[in-house]
Amino acid sequence: MDIQDIKNRFGIIGNSPLLNRAIDVAKQVAPTDISVLIQGESGSGKEVFSHIIHQLSARRHGSFIAVNCGAIPEGTIDSELFGHEKGSFTGAHEARKGYFEVVDGGTIFLDEVGELPLGTQARLLRVLETGEYIRVGSSKVQKTNVRVVAATNVDVYEAVKKGKFREDLYYRLNTVPLRIPSLRERKEDINLLFRKFIVDFTDKYRSPGIQLTPDAQELLMQYNWPGNVRQLKNIAEQIAVLETERVVDATILAKYLPAEQVGSNLPVFVKDSAKEDFSERDLLYKVLFDMKKDMVDLKKLVVELIQKGVNAGTFEQNSPYINQLYDEVRPAPAYLSEELGTKPTITIRNPNENSNTPDFMSYEAQDAEEVEESLSLVDKESDLIKKALKKHKGKRKAAAQELGISERTLYRKIKDLNLD
Ligand SMILES: Nc1ncnc2c1ncn2[C@@H]1O[C@H](COP(=O)(O)OP(=O)(O)O)[C@@H](O)[C@H]1O
Ligand SMILES: [Mg+2]
Repeated sequence: MDIQDIKNRFGIIGNSPLLNRAIDVAKQVAPTDISVLIQGESGSGKEVFSHIIHQLSARRHGSFIAVNCGAIPEGTIDSELFGHEKGSFTGAHEARKGYFEVVDGGTIFLDEVGELPLGTQARLLRVLETGEYIRVGSSKVQKTNVRVVAATNVDVYEAVKKGKFREDLYYRLNTVPLRIPSLRERKEDINLLFRKFIVDFTDKYRSPGIQLTPDAQELLMQYNWPGNVRQLKNIAEQIAVLETERVVDATILAKYLPAEQVGSNLPVFVKDSAKEDFSERDLLYKVLFDMKKDMVDLKKLVVELIQKGVNAGTFEQNSPYINQLYDEVRPAPAYLSEELGTKPTITIRNPNENSNTPDFMSYEAQDAEEVEESLSLVDKESDLIKKALKKHKGKRKAAAQELGISERTLYRKIKDLNLD
């Protein structure tokens, strides 16, 4: 199979030398049983590569399981990975198989491997070296044959230096390092990816096609993409769904890119345009759209939890949306961060503390003000504007940028709302 076949088969877009190199390494290492440590920023495609390695290996008919090590509480991770015996800890009513037992003959993808506690690292090293493991609460040594593909978006070697990650395990996992380039390192692929995602999403939502003007294409290339391909995909989806203009220029596009990064990377990006700018209506649509998406994700999550039982980490492989919930690095748009007033705090009460509360978990809005808070849009708007002006020490240009509106709109609003 050549590199182009692999791209077609796994839906990988891009032609940059760094990406091709990564695919080539994955292809070569796949049929061996060597452990692989995939390094790359969040959203760069590490999980996609773990699938490539499994699928191109002799284990392709065996199971594949993705475990997000960062999402499993320290207290249960050993039992999740290696299983436990009945009665081995409070709540262990039944014996349970761990992933290393279940996946015997297959591949385990250990995402965020740097998050593993030291004790678990020792168990992992043993199973990598000898295939042996012991269930929690047992003394019987068991054997398994599992290939480990690990991934990290942080520099694990830093953790080694700080004593938080075992050096021997690091070298063992890192026999073949596989580095997935960030989007910034392969700018030439950005337009290609964006076009592909736009086509996918306009198809999916049956919306008309979108065209980018040359200045918009340039903006895509200049943006620094902290969330990499995942973020690009996300933004393509928002544009496919929300944008009313079918020809998207840089001014329109800039509204979809989180302001901080536009600001830091593109000093002169806020242009005046003849058209009406980011209106309140657009803003509300966007908020509603995000909320709706979150609701759908939550519903799916609840259904899945009911069907499969709470078992953090296991369901991830089938659930791109859970994956997304886990690693969503998309920074909250400026207008959503801190500005929207106090968040209700969720407290989990100790059941013994208050015998009047039969419910073990109760949600409590701690801030009494929450109820009093004005929900008028006009109030909110003038509030946000005041905050933005204060934050930027009265500099209207910066405040407008943060608010996602043009300077001109900001002037008008200051006048209309009597904020002068
Ligand atoms: N080269 C690529 N071409 C097309 N889609 C990609 C590419 N790389 C990543 N993706 C998509 O981007 C999203 C994030 O990829 P993922 O593998 O989950 O990243 P990571 O595990 O590094 O956070 C997924 O939807 C994936 O399908
Ligand atoms: Mg991931």
